[in-house]
Amino acid sequence: MAVKSSKRFPNIVEGHIGDGSSKNTIELTPPLHIQSFSIMIFREPKTYFIRTYGCQMNELDTQIIQGQLEKRGLAFIDDEENADLLIYNTCSIRDLAERKVMGKLGQLGRGKKRHIIGVTGCMAMAKKDSLFRKFPHLDFVVGTNNITDLGTVLDEVLYTQRQVYKTDDRFEENLDYLVAKRDHNVKAFVSIIRGCDKFCTYCVVPYTRGGEVSRPAMSIIEECKQLVDRGYQEITLLGQNVNSYGKDKPEWNCLFHDLLYQIDRIPGMGRVRFLTSHPVDITRELMLAIRDLPSLCEFVHFPIQAGSNRILKKMHRIYTKEQYFEKVAMLTEIVPNVSLGTDIIVGFPTETEEEFLETYQAVHDIRYSVGFFYSYSPRKGTPAMRWKDDIPDEEKQDRLQRLLDLQASVTSEIRASMLGQTYEVLVERFNKDGKMLKGRTRCWKKVIFEGPENLIGTLQQVKMNSFSHETLIGERICQSALKIL
Ligand code: 5AD
Ligand code: SF4
Repeated sequence: MAVKSSKRFPNIVEGHIGDGSSKNTIELTPPLHIQSFSIMIFREPKTYFIRTYGCQMNELDTQIIQGQLEKRGLAFIDDEENADLLIYNTCSIRDLAERKVMGKLGQLGRGKKRHIIGVTGCMAMAKKDSLFRKFPHLDFVVGTNNITDLGTVLDEVLYTQRQVYKTDDRFEENLDYLVAKRDHNVKAFVSIIRGCDKFCTYCVVPYTRGGEVSRPAMSIIEECKQLVDRGYQEITLLGQNVNSYGKDKPEWNCLFHDLLYQIDRIPGMGRVRFLTSHPVDITRELMLAIRDLPSLCEFVHFPIQAGSNRILKKMHRIYTKEQYFEKVAMLTEIVPNVSLGTDIIVGFPTETEEEFLETYQAVHDIRYSVGFFYSYSPRKGTPAMRWKDDIPDEEKQDRLQRLLDLQASVTSEIRASMLGQTYEVLVERFNKDGKMLKGRTRCWKKVIFEGPENLIGTLQQVKMNSFSHETLIGERICQSALKIL
C-alpha cells in the first residue's frame, strides 16, 4: 500500500508487517529500507526525548534542538519508552562514546518500532547515511551543520515515510542560538566559535565539526545581554578553541580578549568562563583580561595532552613541553590565584614508559585543579589512524590509573589548602540530596552548604570547613559577619 498524503500527513496509521490482527493495524508494503521490520506510519510527533553524549558543545546543540522542537509544538518527556520522537545527539571523540550510541541504537531496533528515531551530532557527520545500513529502523540523520534543518528533515520523514539525512560540510551561518531551551536558570552556555583548525593527529573534531568559524561579536553580545536580562548569573563561552576567536575574520578586528572586554562591559554581567583553550593561542592579553576583568573567572582549561616533546610533535600539538610550561609560568605570574585544568591522552601510539613518566611529572609539577584523562582510541579518518595502536590496553589502563591517583592526591591537597578560608560561591541549585545548596567558586570548585532556597542564583561568601572527594563542604558567612571579621 502506498502512503498517501493530502495537506499535512493526514492518513497516519500504525502498522506492522504481516500483522493484521489489531484494530488500527493494516497491511503495508514497507519502504525498502525498513522491510522485515515492524513499521509505523508516523503522525506528527507530540512528545520527544533527547539524549546527549559528549562535550558542552553538544549540550548546547541539544538545547537549540529542544528549542526548535518546542517551537514546533512538541513537548519534552523524560520517558524514552513513550516519546513519539527520540533524538540521540552523539559524540565521536572516542570509541567508547560511539559504542554507547551504537549499543543504544541497536537496542531500539530490537523492539517493536514505535518512535521516530533520529541521530544528530558528531557521529551523524562521521557516519552519515551508512548509519541507515546498520540501523534500518533509524529515520533521520542530521549533522552538526544542519541543526536549523531539523524541522524540514522531520517534515520530509513524515511526508515520505522514508529515511532522510542531511549532513552538510558547510558551516551553518544562520543558526538561531536564541531559541535554545536552557535547562538551568543560573548559568548558560554561549557559543562563540565553532569548529577547529588545529588538526591534532588523534582528533576527529576538525572532520566532524569542520574548520573554525567565529560568530559575530554583535550576536554574542546580544545573546549575553538577553541572558543577563533573564537573570542568568554565569555565562560559559564555548568553542573547541575559544582563543582562536576572530582570527578567521581579521576584518572584524576583534580577537578573543577584545570580545571579553565587550562582554564584561554588559551592565549586570555576573561571571564569565570560557572553554576550551589551545595552549598556543593563549596570549598575554588574555591573561591580563583574566587579571583585570571583574566578570572573568580565574580558571583556565588548557590541555597539555602529553608531557613528552616527541609525543607532542607526533600529536601535532605545535608546542613543546617547555613552551607549555612558559605559558603556565606567565599565567600564574599575571594571575597568581588562577586554577588550571587539563586533558591528557595516555597510550598514544609508540608512547614509551619514560615518555609517559614525563606526562606524569608535568601533572605533578603543574598541580592542575582539574584533570580529564583518556586512553588513546584510534579514530577513523584521523592521521594517527595510520599508526599501529601498539600500547596494550592493560598498559593504557595502568598509566591512566597512575595519573588518576596522582591527580586525586593533588586535588585533595588543593582542597585542604582552602579549608578555613572564605570564597565567593555562585549558588546554582540544591545538591542531589535535596537539602544542601550547591554552587561553585570562581576557580570552579564544587561547594555545598546549608541555606534557604532563595539563595539560588546569588553570590554568597562561604567558609570551607571540610571536603569529601570532589566536594568542599562549607558554611555561609553573612555579609555583616564578614565586615566584623
Ligand atoms: N583518543 C583519546 N582521547 C581523545 N581526545 C580527543 N581525541 C581522542 C582520541 N582519539 C581527548 C583529548 C581532548 C578531549 C576532549 O578528548 O584529550 O582534549
Ligand atoms: Fe581536537 Fe586538537 Fe582541535 Fe582540540 S585542538 S578539538 S584536540 S583537533
